[in-house]
Amino acid sequence: RPLDLIIRNGTVATASDVFRADIGIAGGRIVEIAERIEGDAAVVDATGKYVLPGGIDSHVHVSQPSGEGIVMADDFESGTRSALYGGNTTVMPFCLQEKGKSLREALKAYHALAEGNCYTDISFHLIVNDPTEAVLGQELPALVRDGYASLKVFMTYEDLRLSDAEILKTLDVARETGATVMVHCENEDAIRFLIEKHEAAGDVAPRAHASTRPAAVEREATHRALTLAEIVDVPVVIVHVSNGQSMEEIARARSRGIEVIGETCPQYLVLTADDLSGMDWEGAKFVCSPPPRDKAAQQDCWRGIETGVFDLFSSDHCPFRYDDERGKLNPKGRRSFRHIPNGIPGVETRMPILFSEGVMKGRIDLPRFVALTATNHARTYGLYPQKGTIAIGADADLAIWDPQAKRTIRHADLHDGADYSPYEGLEITGWPTTVILGGRVMICDGELIGRKGDGAYRPAAARTTAFPAKA
Ligand code: URP
Ligand code: ZN
Ligand code: ZN
Ligand code: ZN
Repeated sequence: RPLDLIIRNGTVATASDVFRADIGIAGGRIVEIAERIEGDAAVVDATGKYVLPGGIDSHVHVSQPSGEGIVMADDFESGTRSALYGGNTTVMPFCLQEKGKSLREALKAYHALAEGNCYTDISFHLIVNDPTEAVLGQELPALVRDGYASLKVFMTYEDLRLSDAEILKTLDVARETGATVMVHCENEDAIRFLIEKHEAAGDVAPRAHASTRPAAVEREATHRALTLAEIVDVPVVIVHVSNGQSMEEIARARSRGIEVIGETCPQYLVLTADDLSGMDWEGAKFVCSPPPRDKAAQQDCWRGIETGVFDLFSSDHCPFRYDDERGKLNPKGRRSFRHIPNGIPGVETRMPILFSEGVMKGRIDLPRFVALTATNHARTYGLYPQKGTIAIGADADLAIWDPQAKRTIRHADLHDGADYSPYEGLEITGWPTTVILGGRVMICDGELIGRKGDGAYRPAAARTTAFPAKA
């Protein structure tokens, strides 16, 4: 069949190779990879650029109910648009089960919000928040077969945490069905204890958010989650790891033969707890959980990226507006850090930060960048090899990067629904300039030409064995 589009003269990178090639696209898929492709199809000139698999951000929150009077700053439209500008072609948002309701009810609502509104492809993770017998016994197994093959459980947040007993039962269903479980590891009782102490002492500014969630509460919960996974004998993903102590738990678990995938995020590489000490309430802009820590923890997380403790690099995009009563300056009126909604925006800046700080500064090579930002996400969550690589037959989801582009991160230049970036002022070398989704040029030389609705929902496949080989 004739080609629809040719990407010419680029340097192509996958998780394993870097090579000079043209790419031929037809019917939304990659059909040819060759030194030179002729033909009269439309051409994108990638001379001097890198041609990478479109980014997959497998940890994104949009339109998620976040507590009374609090509204998330992004819906599917603004969230996926921002993701696209940052070089992503697939994002995986969370679908939150509300207490007393079914997972299917939640999915119905999220699909309705997403339908016709996405600029990237999407696939869902479930948040299991009410693991009743019916949910675990019937609903979840059916959903895993239907393409909802990953789920997250929380060990923290009063209204989300599961008990160890509930986590064990959920892990057991994952073992039976091949679902992939992500765990948010922080010890809720220890956090509550520390919050009460800080409030009693009148220490209620945003910085106390970090003090009441020290590395020890994350380390302990990480150890516990890995122990529960060991007891059930099922692989597990430890998400948003912030420090070296938790990394040690992952490494030790691996040495005991536990299958564990580690994820870290930009905030743990370039922010610290000191950022929460801003003037007035400014520190609220950096409130996320686990909190950013110190320079030593940043170095530890870089080492984890370099050595493979981490296989996933995600944004944990969870945006709230700062100058808004329904966001970081929430209706409870600044009385305490405990009311600041947890989460920061970052879906657009995730890959530029890792490219600039990682690839351009020589910490990681291009294949490792591709693995951390695309390939491993597709492999871990059942979207590979249709997504996450450049290969014959794969979806033509591509990001063309200009490695020379110099930018300073300014929220004014970003496209999310928040009103600030925690990375404001960070100088970046390298940015995606053209983004192609299913063979359609969505962003051309920095300009949006795609439309909402061009992105679609994609079901994910369950694991068949343990975790598939990592790139
Ligand atoms: O603070 C954060 N990370 N908010 C998002 C929800 C989560 O725990 O991932
Ligand atoms: Zn979390
Ligand atoms: Zn304190
Ligand atoms: Zn998250």
